[in-house]
Amino acid sequence: MPKAVAVLVAAGSGERLGASRPKAFVTLAGRPMLAWSVDALRLAGLGEIVVALPSGESAPSGCVGVMGGETRSASVRAALTAAGDGEWVVVHDAARPLVSPSLFSAALDALSGADCAVASAPMTDTVKEAGPDHRVVATLDRSRLWAIQTPQAFRRDALERALDVDDVLLAAATDDAWLVERAGGTVRVVESTAENFKVTTPHDLRVAELLLGERARG
Ligand code: CTP
Ligand code: MG
Repeated sequence: MPKAVAVLVAAGSGERLGASRPKAFVTLAGRPMLAWSVDALRLAGLGEIVVALPSGESAPSGCVGVMGGETRSASVRAALTAAGDGEWVVVHDAARPLVSPSLFSAALDALSGADCAVASAPMTDTVKEAGPDHRVVATLDRSRLWAIQTPQAFRRDALERALDVDDVLLAAATDDAWLVERAGGTVRVVESTAENFKVTTPHDLRVAELLLGERARG
């Protein structure tokens, strides 16, 4: 397997969480939130980690820190320019502290047949499409729908090409895989579970605290 470098995006402010510090640095089960992802990356054998940081915070020991950007993808781009050699890149949200080491490996393994592989959970809710008047226009085929998460693994050349766009397009990207899709690259889903949720609200933080507390107690 080619060498892989990791990008951990932690530069967001965490507006929806509403804590007094940037979200990735909020204490979660006794440690800063991003420390859980750093552990999982290392357990997966990803020792080279570049962290995109908000101002005023520093990178965990052993990681390279860079100042993040205005948007999530701008943070990915900034971190990638600071990453050393490695043909493959794995991007992960610091806001997903419950990630398992095996999910990083599964995403990287799936790169053998694609430009990008994204951790994704099958949908459990029925999904309907509605107009601005709330009138339902379609019920989507759930068996073909996936809720997209991170980690997202990339062939580095495909990611660098995808990120080489203007700031307006970069800001429109809710994930980097979309930028690869629009550039014509192949993206695959890798099955994950709902446990790898993104900590967004105070409710999410409570759930993560319970699950990681349980994990820490063994
Ligand atoms: N992120 C980043 N740089 C940004 C925006 C977000 O590195 N300019 C990171 C966040 O730190 C987080 C991940 O991208 O780990 C997912 O973003 P999100 O959950 O939206 O976090 P925030 O942007 O911090 O939260 P909010 O949108 O509620 O402000
Ligand atoms: Mg955000």
